[in-house]
Amino acid sequence: MKLNLVIMIVSIILPLIIVFGLASSTTITTAYNNDDNDVILQNKVAIQLRLYPGSSTIKLFNQNVDNNEHMNLTYKVFTQNLLDKKSTTTTTTTKYSRLIPDQSSYIRQPESGIVYNPKEFVSFWSNITTTDVSNTAFIIEIRINNNNDDEVQQNTVNGYIRPFDANETNGFRKIPLLNSSSQNVVGEIEVNYLIIRPTGDDFNPLSDHYISIDDIQVAGHRGTGTGIRYDLPEKFIENTISAFNYACKNGAQMIELDVQLSLDRIPVIYHDFEVQTNFVNRHKCKKHEMIKIPLKDFTLHSLQQISTNFMPHVSKNVSMFSQSFETLEQVLNYTDPNCGIDVEIKYPSQKKNLQYESELGVELNEYVDRILNILFKYGGERPMFITSFHADLCSMIRLKQNKYHVGFLTSAKHWSTDPRDFSIESAVAFAQSMMIKAIVPVVDPILTSKTTTNGRYKYIDYVKQRKLGLYLWGNKINSHQIVMNLLDNGVDLLIFDRIDKIINETTFIIH
Ligand SMILES: *[C@@H]1O[C@H](CO)[C@@H](O)[C@H](O)[C@H]1NC(C)=O
Ligand SMILES: *[C@@H]1O[C@H](CO)[C@@H](O)[C@H](O)[C@H]1NC(C)=O
Ligand SMILES: *[C@@H]1O[C@H](CO)[C@@H](O)[C@H](O)[C@H]1NC(C)=O
Ligand SMILES: *[C@@H]1O[C@H](CO)[C@@H](O)[C@H](O)[C@H]1NC(C)=O
Ligand SMILES: *[C@@H]1O[C@H](CO)[C@@H](O)[C@H](O)[C@H]1NC(C)=O
Ligand SMILES: *[C@@H]1O[C@H](CO)[C@@H](O)[C@H](O)[C@H]1NC(C)=O
Ligand SMILES: *[C@@H]1O[C@H](CO)[C@@H](O)[C@H](O)[C@H]1NC(C)=O
Repeated sequence: MKLNLVIMIVSIILPLIIVFGLASSTTITTAYNNDDNDVILQNKVAIQLRLYPGSSTIKLFNQNVDNNEHMNLTYKVFTQNLLDKKSTTTTTTTKYSRLIPDQSSYIRQPESGIVYNPKEFVSFWSNITTTDVSNTAFIIEIRINNNNDDEVQQNTVNGYIRPFDANETNGFRKIPLLNSSSQNVVGEIEVNYLIIRPTGDDFNPLSDHYISIDDIQVAGHRGTGTGIRYDLPEKFIENTISAFNYACKNGAQMIELDVQLSLDRIPVIYHDFEVQTNFVNRHKCKKHEMIKIPLKDFTLHSLQQISTNFMPHVSKNVSMFSQSFETLEQVLNYTDPNCGIDVEIKYPSQKKNLQYESELGVELNEYVDRILNILFKYGGERPMFITSFHADLCSMIRLKQNKYHVGFLTSAKHWSTDPRDFSIESAVAFAQSMMIKAIVPVVDPILTSKTTTNGRYKYIDYVKQRKLGLYLWGNKINSHQIVMNLLDNGVDLLIFDRIDKIINETTFIIH
């Protein structure tokens, strides 16, 4: 009887301790890493609401749209917990960030509201516990300011953002704006959202330290470089274990690779979103034809069966060099364990013309979790970090785990719809806002930022003064001299083609 009671108490208390114990220890201390701001989700969900320049313009029907820029609007975003009958709405859980270097940390909204600028990217961030997603709504309250204080109430319009469905991750929502006194629809706004969920139970995403990559300065782009190495007897193909191991033996401290998910959700090493495959057309005299199919539509097994034309812009040698489609797990098992890995995660971005680079596949949280799962299971203590051109994917990796540092890859130009990707400055502001370790821009804007007066590179100093890592890539990193020059000027890490040749050009000493 007594024993039963004890067991009963234990079985009631224990889950409570587990649940509340985790909930109350969500802030990770800084004891085991050099970041002062180590924020990770654990059992929380992060919801970000964003106003995108262009897409999220506030439209008020009775106002002249051309005058919009001259309208004096201020706004705030409130979080509403629908289960909590007592509480109305609260701004305290919703912090905001502006994409301005050194001012992009998430902070509390000013009492007077945020001054509306249609050209600005603004992000709101709420942390909520998992069960709350379907019970959390948001309200955007917009005030139309004029000089007559009596009219303030009449000139407030509200947008209600209903709770997100379990299957929603990112996208835009068009919200009607209601006149707060008449409740008539008087306008609309399109709000962008991102929902970052904690990883599932397949693995433990918590680590007692970040893997250090501070000693690494040179990485082999896709192993021995883009395409096929006809100049070497082995004719290495990019993104293969044999290319990785050759690069590691011949000067690379780290290799860079591309990973994406197959139809059966296995992380596969491949660069392009589409695979060129050779098929026999029975209607056209058994002629061989090439077709392009997204990699995400093949299972691993079928990928390994098909004969592919390896990147036709590099080679016309159909079937002569077929890609082996090795998995991330195989790479981790069979690539020299002393060699580091820069894991670039591929996911289609939306281009300026609003088309995506390729069809979207698996939901983004699951996509990321599948890849993290393999890294946590087979990565061991190998020096590794994770990069992506997809800013939201970088935010996810940053918040879901604390073993691998994140680098935001950027072309620093207007090729996508994402303002975070437009320039070195915006990439820096984004990295600062999410406490991301490094930005990974293409080398070109860095090279052209060289000042004639002192011979220094303006952008190298700009990034280093902000204590962010600076890793560079691009085909202008093509000689021993350029590599040494950039490293001497303070660049942390370079990712380039034909690393074996460039390292061997003269005696090369990494400091
Ligand atoms: C989200 O939660 C983490 C962990 O509790 C906390 O450190 C962080 O400041 C929160 N972020 C925001 C924007 O409230
Ligand atoms: C906008 O309105 C606010 C509140 O009435 C006022 O303090 C501010 O000076 C105005 N700003 C401009 C640019 O008109
Ligand atoms: C998400 O699920 C809801 C039902 O819960 C459904 O109505 C909606 O169409 C789904 N949306 C997508 C994008 O699958
Ligand atoms: C809201 O409605 C009131 C009348 O109820 C009107 O005076 C005011 O101009 C309206 N505001 C907007 C922004 O439509
Ligand atoms: C095809 O392969 C041969 C033999 O390896 C090579 O010399 C040639 O350059 C390749 N052709 C093209 C177009 O890449
Ligand atoms: C990788 O190594 C682990 C541990 O030795 C093993 O369990 C797993 O099957 C290996 N995977 C592959 C693809 O070789
Ligand atoms: C690079 O130099 C090392 C040592 O001199 C040599 O063993 C190796 O074969 C060279 N690699 C290439 C690709 O030339």
